[in-house]
Amino acid sequence: MRLRQVPGLRRKDADPRVRAAASEAVKELFGLLLGVFRLRQIDSGLSRAAVLGIETSCDDTGIALMGFDGKVLASLLSSQIKDHAAFGGVVPELASRKHQEAILPLLRAALSDAGITEPAREIGLVAVTTGPGLMGSLLVGVMTAKGLAQAWNCPMIGVNHIEGHIFANRIAHEGLAPPFLCLVVSGGHTEIILVRAWGDYSMVGRTRDDAAGECYDKVARILGLPYPGGPEVDRLASQGDPEAFDFPVPMNGTSGVEFSFSGLKTAVFWAVSRIRREGMEVPVADVCASFQKAAVSSLLGKVCLASGVTGVGKICLSGGVSANSALRAAFRSRFGVNAFIPPAELCTDNALMIAAAGLNRFLREGGSSLDIAPDPSATLSDRILSKNERNGQ
Ligand code: KG4
Ligand code: ZN
Repeated sequence: MRLRQVPGLRRKDADPRVRAAASEAVKELFGLLLGVFRLRQIDSGLSRAAVLGIETSCDDTGIALMGFDGKVLASLLSSQIKDHAAFGGVVPELASRKHQEAILPLLRAALSDAGITEPAREIGLVAVTTGPGLMGSLLVGVMTAKGLAQAWNCPMIGVNHIEGHIFANRIAHEGLAPPFLCLVVSGGHTEIILVRAWGDYSMVGRTRDDAAGECYDKVARILGLPYPGGPEVDRLASQGDPEAFDFPVPMNGTSGVEFSFSGLKTAVFWAVSRIRREGMEVPVADVCASFQKAAVSSLLGKVCLASGVTGVGKICLSGGVSANSALRAAFRSRFGVNAFIPPAELCTDNALMIAAAGLNRFLREGGSSLDIAPDPSATLSDRILSKNERNGQ
């Protein structure tokens, strides 16, 4: 059969800008209709009204239940801190075993907290972290999600852990709307992400080496403080003198939107080693306060720079290190009402943020296939914005 082409209607005749705009508008409308359709589909006759979130990327097992209207029904966390403390850091094999032990009892407890007695009728979506994280840990969550989705005959969706951290802000701040910059600062990540729309992310800058949380944990280790070091360094810093040591502010004065924390960690190591070599007592609180001053100053300085180059003034924080008291105070003081900071329990790993990110993505894109596999090195946005792109924002 020959296809006849109607003159004047050939796609290549249209102005490319008009074509692009029309295609965007159609896509947007289609996405909206699809979202409504998906919700209706989940909800049809079954009154399934909740999404289950599962988080097992590192050493916290998280289970949460959230209504489709965003209402928090339950959020539980089983921490493995005590199990890993003796080793001074997370032991991957141990972490996956502990997730395995914790996940089903935690699920039962969360269902009971939420008053859900018939999950197959009441849960319409299972959202699970697929990466980044530890392979053995991610596997426990992903396999559990697959089993539950099949048993309950409902869709499942894989969620990027960093996108989850960004969504902690949406849970915490009703009405928060993009565009905004989000500083994701955790044990494994230190990056500034431009959130143009929910689901549309670009990296503005990231760390060249260690993550800020990793640096906090290593400094704590140097000082002989328990794991995880961040909260302990934060606590002791409030009792110390931030001017006692002149630690370098990483990447201070450089024009790039990028971080580096390995030099600061090394500076702390040499300062503490020298004091010990001289047989003196290490002023732990002073070291913590001086270190924290440099770390916070670097994070704040580069976010200010990113805000300047992108022209985006709304700033969100997320990730475990954003539970830090000095960091929170510095951002509040610098950005005022434009600083959005979730409560500490939403900053650190939790499953509620996974449920929220999963539901949002599901409504836009539909569910994941049951073939989905964990991706330990998953990225949210690999591409770093060029100078021109940043300025065009
Ligand atoms: O987001 P998170 O719970 O897990 C990861 O995805 O990494 O972050 C954990 C990190 C750890 O490095 C921990 O030491 C750090 O967050 N952290 C803190 C504080 N609370 C947790 N760092 C500084 N100050 C805190 N108060
Ligand atoms: Zn995290």
